[in-house]
Amino acid sequence: MGIDRLCVNLAGLRLANPTVLASGILGLSAESLSTVVTGGAGAIVTKSVGLRPRRGYANPTIVQTGCGLINAVGLPNPGIGEFAREICEAKSLGIPVIVGVYGFSAEEYAAVAKKAVDSGADAVELNVSCPHVKETGSEIGQNPRILVEVVRKVKAVVEKPVFVKLSPNVTDIKEIAEAAANAGADAVTAINTVKAMIIDTETTTPVLSNKVGGLSGRAIKPIAVRCVYEIYEEVKLPIVGCGGIMDWRDAVEFLLAGASAVQIGTAVAIKGPNVFKTVASGINRYLKRKGFRSVNEIVGLSHHS
Ligand SMILES: Cc1cc2nc3c(=O)[nH]c(=O)nc-3n(C[C@H](O)[C@H](O)[C@H](O)COP(=O)(O)O)c2cc1C
Repeated sequence: MGIDRLCVNLAGLRLANPTVLASGILGLSAESLSTVVTGGAGAIVTKSVGLRPRRGYANPTIVQTGCGLINAVGLPNPGIGEFAREICEAKSLGIPVIVGVYGFSAEEYAAVAKKAVDSGADAVELNVSCPHVKETGSEIGQNPRILVEVVRKVKAVVEKPVFVKLSPNVTDIKEIAEAAANAGADAVTAINTVKAMIIDTETTTPVLSNKVGGLSGRAIKPIAVRCVYEIYEEVKLPIVGCGGIMDWRDAVEFLLAGASAVQIGTAVAIKGPNVFKTVASGINRYLKRKGFRSVNEIVGLSHHS
């Protein structure tokens, strides 16, 4: 009974509960992803993968601050050719596998997405929002014209759902979400990290080797909730809420704002993989206490009050 209450259909994917591993938090191997399945995640998003292998930036790449993490890892990954094997293995985990995809052109996004789906991905999530790598990520997702081209080219070659992961580092996130919807996206994920930096007062220099990175964790939750709320008002696409979810109450806030499911990243690094079970059972208890029969009944509820 409790389990049925938590079931969600996300752009055609069936999730046993609405919690999803956010991209990039764990390694790329099927082995590390399996700890998240045991921890109770309803689905996983892999680290973003590109056409060719990439080393990422030199250390330091991740800094813990009082209000979250700031990272500029630089999209390290083995390239889709090598990663295809991990996707096949991840398929045996028994929950939907969404492959994070990036590219330096619309053609590259399409080539990587096609290879991911051919290797067994249940869906792809286009990273058009990474704030710290030039000529990809948010440089694409901040420009609706280029974003439309990327989404159209991907949609033309894959028959699985296409999620578009949005950047909060824009003037109007609704406009970008609308562009993704018009280009045929099946869902949007909001949000990626917020552009940020940290300076060491003793050395007087920026701490990250890339200088600028992206802030995740508790501090960005109100920004992410606002983004989901705004998108829900304007765009008729399922929304996956992401940013600063540490416990079940945070997750419920995103559902009330209009998210159909939630992604958890930094909290997995801080609290461990069982955070999915804890969040899902907290949502379940909340629904029961309030007399709701399903997650669906509270999606966007804050807009009606
Ligand atoms: C170390 C680290 C690596 C990340 N790598 C990726 C990535 O490869 N692709 C991506 O789309 N997002 C990446 N993200 C962003 C997260 O998926 C997520 O959008 C963000 O951290 C906000 O959620 P959180 O506050 O729950 O962590 C990364 C975040 C962190 C902290």
